[in-house]
Amino acid sequence: MKLQRRVPRWSVIGSLGAAAMVLLGMVFAQESGKLPSSYAPVNLNEDFAAVMGRMKAAKPDVMKRHLDLLNERYDLSNRPAAGMAMSRSKPVQEGVRVKLPKGVTWEQLAAMAPEEIRDRTLFPAGFLPLPHPNHAEGGMVFPQPTIDEVKKLEGRDLTRFDLDFDTPDQFLPEFPPPIYLTIQPDLGDVSQGKLVKLTNYYQLFNGILNPKQLEGLRLLLTAFPQQQFNATEDRRSERPSTGVACFDCHVNGHTNKAAHLVGDIRPQEFRHRINTPTLRGEGKQRAEAPSNRKVSAFQPSQLAEG
Ligand code: HEC
Repeated sequence: MKLQRRVPRWSVIGSLGAAAMVLLGMVFAQESGKLPSSYAPVNLNEDFAAVMGRMKAAKPDVMKRHLDLLNERYDLSNRPAAGMAMSRSKPVQEGVRVKLPKGVTWEQLAAMAPEEIRDRTLFPAGFLPLPHPNHAEGGMVFPQPTIDEVKKLEGRDLTRFDLDFDTPDQFLPEFPPPIYLTIQPDLGDVSQGKLVKLTNYYQLFNGILNPKQLEGLRLLLTAFPQQQFNATEDRRSERPSTGVACFDCHVNGHTNKAAHLVGDIRPQEFRHRINTPTLRGEGKQRAEAPSNRKVSAFQPSQLAEG
């Protein structure tokens, strides 16, 4: 793959040139009757059953293309590291998993100048941004264990009819992850091995959290409509959905590696896949002045890695 050319240095001439190109682009866009837009079309002209039928039919090809790409780039085999496990004993995977381009070793790559790696197209593709399972389509996609457990506990279905989650289970954090509270570390794991959901949070945390914290937690567990999971025909769930909760991705205040596309970039093709980070230790990351601090409802411990 060719690396992109260096972007010209910022200068008056450069910025005038850029402005002229934007204007020219607008003129051309207007001539062809289309203005550039940040939005996807929202007037749906296709019947929901037809959209679902079309996307279900395309799903096997979409998933094959993506899994082929993953296998081309990465060694996804299950190789647990000896003597290293997550809190509740799920093994951690070992070894370098990015595959080398044919005919070179890591040592040879390390001895090359960047220009040589570029000119001989030897940059390992596994270090390029990881695409979403269907990048042009995007949207939230959840691992199967989360889908199953949310369905069991709340009757909400996070299955998408157009694609599946892609990362093999051995590379995911253990599920459900344990919860350690910074405010009461002596309690150890307070999850009781359960996925915290709207149907069990009160039972699990009454007497441990204060009322305000319980309310904060309730909000993190409340589903809100979003693009793939809502009640309209512009959704990717078979049945109308009440939406997605913060803790559907940040499960138990940690992560299940649910993915979507970053929200702040246009056009669509430049949006990166983002995998859910843990919220453990989040209460300790704040840079604000002490007087300006938010009261966080939920502060799982920084010590809770794995
Ligand atoms: C679809 C999965 C998903 C859902 C639902 C979700 N998040 Fe996230 N969250 C992410 C991802 C992915 C990132 C990383 C964003 C990035 O890299 O730009 C993130 C980042 C964060 C961060 C920053 C973490 C850090 O260490 O910098 C916080 C805090 C957070 N989310 C809280 C929430 C809250 C509160 C909600 C509910 C209102 C929520 N998230 C819902 C996936 C999700």
